[in-house]
Amino acid sequence: MSLMDRHSVIEKNATLLLVGSLLVVTIGGIVEIAPLFYLDNTIEKVEGMRPYSPLELAGRNIYVREGCYLCHSQMIRPFRDEVERYGHYSLAAESMYDHPFQWGSKRTGPDLARVGDRYSNEWHAQHLTNPQSVVPESVMPSYGFLKDTPLDLKNFSTHLVANARVGVPYTPDMIANADADMKAQADPAADTTALLKRYPKAKVGDFDGNPSQVSEMDALVAYLQVLGTLVDFKNYDESAGYR
Ligand code: HEC
Repeated sequence: MSLMDRHSVIEKNATLLLVGSLLVVTIGGIVEIAPLFYLDNTIEKVEGMRPYSPLELAGRNIYVREGCYLCHSQMIRPFRDEVERYGHYSLAAESMYDHPFQWGSKRTGPDLARVGDRYSNEWHAQHLTNPQSVVPESVMPSYGFLKDTPLDLKNFSTHLVANARVGVPYTPDMIANADADMKAQADPAADTTALLKRYPKAKVGDFDGNPSQVSEMDALVAYLQVLGTLVDFKNYDESAGYR
């Protein structure tokens, strides 16, 4: 009996085909799922990733509250057109402290995964207040009210505690200093040495153009300005990962 003839036995017997298929799917399933039970982490480590600073985290909360993800994704796919437009494709590690992640599948507006450092704070404040004043054909709504809404500065450490519970490595030191760090990051006159030690590369100063008040817009712009800026891709080797 040739191999083809033997195979026709399976093709002509529904029960045998079913049992055979089940066997193959089971083996495939075990190979894919079993490693997840003993690997501590399936995300490739990259240098530079850190938890969000309290002000950035507050901005992220506003981003989620306002539903920015309904029009903006935060995941650059490894396709040439996306990489040329937005920069290096997103790494899994870059969203590992995001709860919930903001990958998204809807791009009414551009991907925002690497929007940090791309525009000035003034541009963001102007754009969020009146998008059409900088991009006339924009369909983005105005979020000007964020500038007039004072940021709730009290007990912000509870947000760090909640994130720590789901695995974000906030240290007791970060949690204890959360409220002070939040104020310091948006205050151009503050001493930010300790803040920058805890959160390297954090942008500091006034974000919304009004240094006399910490507004929700300060937090949102601080968040936008850090997106995609933490990993230094000069040291990232495509084939071997991070060295
Ligand atoms: C109704 C869809 C919509 C919503 C909701 C929306 N945007 Fe946009 N956004 C756009 C569009 C369209 C553009 C491109 C035109 C422009 O720059 O205004 C854009 C552009 C942007 C840009 C500039 C990106 C770049 O690379 O040029 C930023 C930053 C931005 N949006 C942030 C936000 C934030 C933050 C929110 C939530 C507070 C938000 N958007 C909500 C549609 C939206």
